[in-house]
Amino acid sequence: MNKNNEFEPKIAAFLCTWCSYAAADLAGSSRIQYPPNIRVVRVPCTGRMDPFLIIKAFNMGADGILVSGCHPGDCHFLDGNLYARRRFVMLNEMMQYAGVEKERMNFTWCSASEGKRFAGVVEDAVNNVKKVGPWQGFDGQGFNQEEGETTVEKV
Ligand code: FES
Repeated sequence: MNKNNEFEPKIAAFLCTWCSYAAADLAGSSRIQYPPNIRVVRVPCTGRMDPFLIIKAFNMGADGILVSGCHPGDCHFLDGNLYARRRFVMLNEMMQYAGVEKERMNFTWCSASEGKRFAGVVEDAVNNVKKVGPWQGFDGQGFNQEEGETTVEKV
């Protein structure tokens, strides 16, 4: 919640170090504003991401997740991003079955030169998660906001 008592989601953002992480850096150094709702987890390639990291982020109180990798054809490990995309589609369906709204799961591509696009991607992810409100956990019991704040950063 912000000072106006509006919901401000916490989003675990898994960013590929070669592209989206650099795009976030570029956005920062270019002074492009984007919402401060993401907690960045830098990954060597989205293809190296274990889908359990996403489940763990939700278990630790994240309201949503963002996975952003290199554009198709640009992955530094050839097709890691395409494997990640396939895994994400499957995981997304499983998560919906488990009660996680699709608005909480965001997947995109962003190159290192797309700082402005990255800012838009974060804005879209935040707006998507705001639509569905705070994550109440897989058991629907909710989270202690103070605990969630500190545990999400440890992901
Ligand atoms: Fe960026 Fe594979 S190296 S997604």
